[in-house]
Amino acid sequence: MNELAGKHIVLGLSGGVACYKAADLCRQLIKEGATVQVVMTEAAGQFITPVTMQALSGRPVYGSQWDAREPNNMPHINLSRDADAIVIAPCSADFVARLAQGRADELLSLLCLARPAASVPLLLAPAMNREMWSHPATQRNLQQVARDGALVLGVGHGDQACGETGDGRMLEPHELLDELVASLTPKVLAGHTVLVTAGPTFEAIDPVRGITNLSSGKMGFALARAAREAGADVTLVAGPVHLETPRGVRRVDVRSAVEMAEAVHALVADATIFVATAAVADWRPASPSTQKIKKDGSGNTPALAFVENPDILAAVAQSPRAQAGELLCVGFAAESHDLIAHATAKRQRKGVPLLVGNIGPATFGQDDNALVLVDANGHRELPRAPKRVLARQLIEDIAARCR
Ligand code: CTP
Repeated sequence: MNELAGKHIVLGLSGGVACYKAADLCRQLIKEGATVQVVMTEAAGQFITPVTMQALSGRPVYGSQWDAREPNNMPHINLSRDADAIVIAPCSADFVARLAQGRADELLSLLCLARPAASVPLLLAPAMNREMWSHPATQRNLQQVARDGALVLGVGHGDQACGETGDGRMLEPHELLDELVASLTPKVLAGHTVLVTAGPTFEAIDPVRGITNLSSGKMGFALARAAREAGADVTLVAGPVHLETPRGVRRVDVRSAVEMAEAVHALVADATIFVATAAVADWRPASPSTQKIKKDGSGNTPALAFVENPDILAAVAQSPRAQAGELLCVGFAAESHDLIAHATAKRQRKGVPLLVGNIGPATFGQDDNALVLVDANGHRELPRAPKRVLARQLIEDIAARCR
């Protein structure tokens, strides 16, 4: 999936060891379909050569405001007008200070100053030693550039090139890519607080065994990511899955349906949208053993009694805020057959305005899926596509219902 198809990105490098990661970032941007124009400060050239960046981007690198290649001799204007976004990675402490002062004595800070601020986002990926990062001057400058409209990305924590350990590592290229994609996504859910459940639940039989299902959590994680990209504040309540938390999403890990219900009830008061993608176990063993159940050699099997789990979605949908229209509830249905009929009946049974149906065996664990959206007016199909694409389409549909 080409996340950046048709986008033109100015990738600016200032001086820092993390320039080696900028080479990988450049490759990833191009792999996602972007065209990339690299601009380097003189200091960046001490860490990586323009030859490398030209080879990776397929374009000559710019480094001087006096570059005569531009017919009008105004590279700062032309480069910033052509861009869909400007990403400074690495952004050194010195470069932040230059931006904070509005300096314009070399090409990269000059083109940042000249960028059309309303239409071209400026993303800064700081990279520096931990003492430089935590210095009040740096923090003051970062606050200033953020107030001036730049999007200041976070930093990583860990081993630093200088041998020290702490905050100040540049984010990894795939994290920067996610931030860039998010910055270019229309903010159709700005101001909304979204709560998503995802994954299976695990219902213990004894300390080492339990009952679960084949839900991978991928659809719920993709939805959480799409909601965050669309500008929402997002919390993801996740059953036991090994998926990376989408950037900028708060995650609460749970195991059983009862734990998931408790987490949701504690969080839902702040939400304006609740999306239940989790494949919650319908039943749990009535009295899980505190010790491992052993075979006794008789050939007899243990008798398991079950009790029904709380229906999280139905309970939230019945809450006063949902009934008053302050909280939009969206359910999912994983069926094996007669999808539209089952989804239509389930929507009414759960009391939700929108229910999203899919064929369970065809989606569990897959990276793509097909959905049918069922509401009071009928149904609409979203044809088979990567879950990431479907998640975006669903978020657009949900946003339209919130307007
Ligand atoms: N759900 C829930 N809590 C439960 C069971 C289901 O919140 N205890 C939610 C799911 O997250 C999903 C929707 O309800 O959004 C439908 O889940 P599904 O398992 O398909 O429906 P069930 O009510 O369990 O019906 P059945 O298994 O009989 O098809």
